[in-house]
Amino acid sequence: QDNSTNSGRLAGKTVTVTAGGTREPLDPVRFLGNRSSGKQGAAIAEAALAAGARVRFIAAHLETPVPSGVDLVQVETALELREAVHAAAASTDVLVMSAAVADFRPGENAETKIKKRDDGADPVITLVRNPDILQEAVQCRAESGTGPALIVGFAAETGDGSASVLEYGRRKLERKGCDLLVLNQVGRSLVFGQDNTEVRILSPQDAPGSEPEAVAGSKADVARHLVDRIAEELDAALP
Ligand code: CTP
Ligand code: CA
Repeated sequence: QDNSTNSGRLAGKTVTVTAGGTREPLDPVRFLGNRSSGKQGAAIAEAALAAGARVRFIAAHLETPVPSGVDLVQVETALELREAVHAAAASTDVLVMSAAVADFRPGENAETKIKKRDDGADPVITLVRNPDILQEAVQCRAESGTGPALIVGFAAETGDGSASVLEYGRRKLERKGCDLLVLNQVGRSLVFGQDNTEVRILSPQDAPGSEPEAVAGSKADVARHLVDRIAEELDAALP
């Protein structure tokens, strides 16, 4: 795809991209994490920069370099990511939630390292729900009447006996209330850490039963395509 089609399309706009996987501490040396590499988020940040945007990059744990030219905010946990997104929401045109946010965190973060017990008893870890940062951003915008003009969510689905990947994606789009949802099909070897990907971009405006726009290629190809779509949506949203 030709990079120049994007150039300048987001000039004067601020795009906030969250990327990578949060890490939820158990004690000073251990955490619960996930396999997100942050590559898709980094590629989106690069494509937005190439389109002339100012990019705020809220990075949880990454297995890929931070793109040069972004304003970096480094976070570790879902709660820190939430604070960073809240702080950014008032001054960004676009919010792209590509981070893999842990759904749960350990209920307790021990002050000191958890030790094996002399009586041989196994420890029990209680998990508590993390807030849904994407949903909060959508709600906050609705309540305050300000915030990002465009909020983009991601969904990684496998599909199962009761619903297809696309059905789960549509349900998630509706539940989250965001403006676009980038739907990924995942499996044990699909997507995580891979350089090639295939996504579908869902919008609440899609006609019922219609096939959503599909994009296959490298994460950079997908990112450029998504940035193009973001620019189109922003243009359409202008009075
Ligand atoms: N997300 C978020 N806060 C969370 C969990 C997810 O903001 N606590 C965001 C992700 O960044 C992503 C979107 O929500 O943009 C969908 O994430 P996903 O894990 O697919 O959705 P969940 O609502 O957590 O549903 P599931 O039970 O399928 O994991
Ligand atoms: Ca989840």
